[in-house]
Amino acid sequence: MVPRRDAVRCDVQARKALPMHVLETPRLILKPPTPRDEQLLHGLHSDPLVTTSIRDGISPTVEQSKAELRQYINHWERVRFGPWMVFVKEDGRARKFAGSCGLVICGANLPEDPDNVELVFCLHQRDCGKGIGPEAGRAVARFAFEHLKLEKISAFIRPSNTRSLRAAPKVGFKYVGPCIYNDMERKQFELTYASYMKPVVDQVLTLR
Ligand SMILES: CC(C)(COP(=O)(O)OP(=O)(O)OC[C@H]1O[C@@H](n2cnc3c(N)ncnc32)[C@H](O)[C@@H]1OP(=O)(O)O)[C@@H](O)C(=O)NCCC(=O)NCCS
Repeated sequence: MVPRRDAVRCDVQARKALPMHVLETPRLILKPPTPRDEQLLHGLHSDPLVTTSIRDGISPTVEQSKAELRQYINHWERVRFGPWMVFVKEDGRARKFAGSCGLVICGANLPEDPDNVELVFCLHQRDCGKGIGPEAGRAVARFAFEHLKLEKISAFIRPSNTRSLRAAPKVGFKYVGPCIYNDMERKQFELTYASYMKPVVDQVLTLR
């Protein structure tokens, strides 16, 4: 049996040979980012809800958005996972860009546990409130546990971000406590492999 991992150790050479997976849910297709996604990402990060919720009200410049896309792509190239670009399906095909959702290694944002893997999600305001965040998040969590064989994933949410605080438990996250992330106060959530699997175990095992 493949052992579960507390965190992803960046075995760069081994990972480089792996494919970059597309994920699909009933309503969504999640694609790894490409250099062609510059405008999509810039539009997303300039969305008023996004700037208010996670960017201290500051819209990025085009150059900053390009740099962020490069970071996403570099993350994917290094470890074969990262933030996916989330599209709403129409006739089974990826049509309307809704936002991003994926897995990011915490690194310098969390010096005491830099290999911790966090789930991030971010949608255009027009696509919020329809359960798209939790639907994409559950697909990403499944990838983390069933493909990457992680032991746990985390989320670090600003105390003021009520939408995200409401959405995280729908992915399965449990509140752990306050923490400092990227030198800022956050609420830390965790989803462990054991609690991810619990509904499945409950379905197949009934003790009488
Ligand atoms: C956080 C986010 C990914 C959640 O995804 P989502 O698809 O909107 O999630 P849901 O549809 O489950 O809605 C979450 C909560 O938003 C709130 N909400 C929905 N519509 C709203 C509205 N018009 N105004 C204010 N809050 C609203 C609701 O409280 C809802 O929870 P509830 O249905 O249990 O009451 C998404 O809102 C988002 O991208 N926000 C901007 C960026 C961001 O904050 N990212 C998270 C960083 S940690």
